[in-house]
Amino acid sequence: MLSMRNVSVTYGNNPVPAVENFSLEMKQGEIVSIVGESRSGKTTVIRAVLGCLPGGGYVSRGEISFEGRPVSGFGREEWRRLRGTEISMIFQDSGAMLNPVRRIGSQYVEYIRTHEKMGRRAAWERGARMLEQMRLPDGEHIMRSYPFQLSGGQRQRVGIAMAMTFQPKLLLADEPTSALDVTTQAQIVRQMLKLREEYHTGIIMVTHNLGEAAYMADRILVMKEGHIVDAGTREQILAHPSSAYTRNLLDSVPALGGYRFV
Ligand SMILES: Nc1ncnc2c1ncn2[C@@H]1O[C@H](COP(=O)(O)OP(=O)(O)OP(=O)(O)O)[C@@H](O)[C@H]1O
Ligand SMILES: [Mg+2]
Repeated sequence: MLSMRNVSVTYGNNPVPAVENFSLEMKQGEIVSIVGESRSGKTTVIRAVLGCLPGGGYVSRGEISFEGRPVSGFGREEWRRLRGTEISMIFQDSGAMLNPVRRIGSQYVEYIRTHEKMGRRAAWERGARMLEQMRLPDGEHIMRSYPFQLSGGQRQRVGIAMAMTFQPKLLLADEPTSALDVTTQAQIVRQMLKLREEYHTGIIMVTHNLGEAAYMADRILVMKEGHIVDAGTREQILAHPSSAYTRNLLDSVPALGGYRFV
């Protein structure tokens, strides 16, 4: 589904790439977690996949392919068709992505209608149904709410619901739980595991939290200063971390929802 081969990403004229020699082969339905300290290049990697690097960022080496086709050849139209439907993204704080002065429903309807020809009523119903599937009990009520009337966890579920509307093959999640309290973190993580079960979505999950990665991911990539310093199945990474950096991370794992998973 997704293939990244020896990818380097450079911002502007910076002679040092922010990410260097990054490789990842991913099948549909797989969950891969990218773990690493701040500025290690995690966000850069997933933005490169989505073709939306900020600040003059570009893929300076290597190749990214989606469904067998190099994304470097995608034009504006093709990206518009893919983003939000085949590949979608959720952020650390979905509330920040939502317009604070508009109700969820009107934003959700607009989002659906930019991707698919559909009447307002049908789009509204689809949105409300999707919210309920993400375990927001009263979809209609959420649709009529303003973002500030929801809790952080509820807003994050709205973000996941929107990202999952078109059942993408690949979901990119950039620290989707780090702004939440531990109990809500655990709920969101379980919700994401259900996405894979129900929709067979491939997920790249970026997190600071190796415990969360250990709970969710089939495979874990550990990054430091723009490089992959460890990669393997979760069992390999947890039982036999090859780098001293990963061993250090393992020693400082916080608990997830009151439980330690590693
Ligand atoms: N818009 C930008 N313009 C220039 N350089 C950038 C930009 N965004 C990121 N970088 C650089 O790329 C490197 C990796 O940053 P990135 O945001 O990918 O790290 P991260 O692992 O996601 O960090 P965090 O955990 O803090 O979110 C950093 O050295 C950063 O300075
Ligand atoms: Mg980041």
